[in-house]
Amino acid sequence: MVTELMKDFKEKFGDGGDIRRYFAPGRVNMIGEHTDYNGGHVFPCALTIGTYAIVRKRDDREMRFYSQNFEEIGIVEASLDHLVYDKAADWTNYPVGVVWTFIEKGYDIDTGFDMLLFGNIPNASGLSSSSSVEVVVGVALRDLYGFEDVTMQDIALYGQYCENNFNGVNCGIMDQFSIAMGKKDMAIFLDCSDLSYTYVPLELKDAKIVIACSNKKRGLGDSKYNERRAECEEAVSELQAKLDIKTLGELTEEEFEANKDLIKSEVRQRRAKHAVYENQRTLKAVEVLQKGDIEEFGRLMNASHVSLRDDYEVTGIELDTLVETAWEQEGVIGSRMTGAGFGGCTVSIVKEDCVESFIENVGKVYLDKIGYAADFYVVEIGDGGRVLD
Ligand code: GLA
Repeated sequence: MVTELMKDFKEKFGDGGDIRRYFAPGRVNMIGEHTDYNGGHVFPCALTIGTYAIVRKRDDREMRFYSQNFEEIGIVEASLDHLVYDKAADWTNYPVGVVWTFIEKGYDIDTGFDMLLFGNIPNASGLSSSSSVEVVVGVALRDLYGFEDVTMQDIALYGQYCENNFNGVNCGIMDQFSIAMGKKDMAIFLDCSDLSYTYVPLELKDAKIVIACSNKKRGLGDSKYNERRAECEEAVSELQAKLDIKTLGELTEEEFEANKDLIKSEVRQRRAKHAVYENQRTLKAVEVLQKGDIEEFGRLMNASHVSLRDDYEVTGIELDTLVETAWEQEGVIGSRMTGAGFGGCTVSIVKEDCVESFIENVGKVYLDKIGYAADFYVVEIGDGGRVLD
């Protein structure tokens, strides 16, 4: 694949010079949804699918971008002298935003580059194709310009900074962190309140991780993501009338129940309830997984979906159809939406010998009910962002 990409790079941008290659994965979150910006825990893993970048430095201050995923857009040009968000610049606002971030953080990028990207993650599907682009660009900038003091964790934080301050999505740290820090066959148990983390082997015995992409397109920026975040912040300030907390992640279920009436709207109460219970569920899920109890892990995944559907209200008919149909299938250990929601993907743990019938049955029900097809991926857990040799 990389050989093909190199060929295309040379066709688009010309031969010669020091052409380098990079990769950053997509991610899937197993449990702990909408908890990261609430100071809670998440449990994502990096995938083996992701974004490839072929890059060569230039002598002038121009940047030229081409993505095989957006062939119709063609080559997009930008300049180091004009680093601003531009709606018309489409997907290139991600790499340009990362360059802008590095400069904001004090790194000297004085010449531009040509960059060709290809992603084998479905775009805007909830597997974090945008964070994957941010991290692959971060890895490329560090390598091309020799920023040796930049750690992978910094690259994750810069990706989030770009998303928050350049692209206008108030996302948490989960996506960029898991994509930068991923490890083969491991999930990352991350405490988003202080970024402490451990790697936990995701040992599923005779089961596989199956991702179902709803093909309902969404952009995080247009979605209700920022609204949910604001609702949680407001709930925290209401709780602060009595409680000495900074985030919902600090509360147990009991503490929440004893104090929830401080939250003056029923809707905000449900939003906060999700954040508190989902965080506690994530702690339990990791504990049972470490004891080898995958069945209980699956039940917690299912409960996570119910909470995202009923209390946090970020699912919608597409994701609910995929998950509720999955629950009815033989060999399904657990199934839930993953990522921000409002479209995007679900993640299911399915016994290996039932994967085929799972895909067939869920696919059929989805097509009948929704009117267009879902795509299914049996995925593997891979390493984080890196330079390719
Ligand atoms: C998106 C955001 C993450 C996280 C999830 C929901 O993927 O980028 O920071 O908030 O939604 O868990």
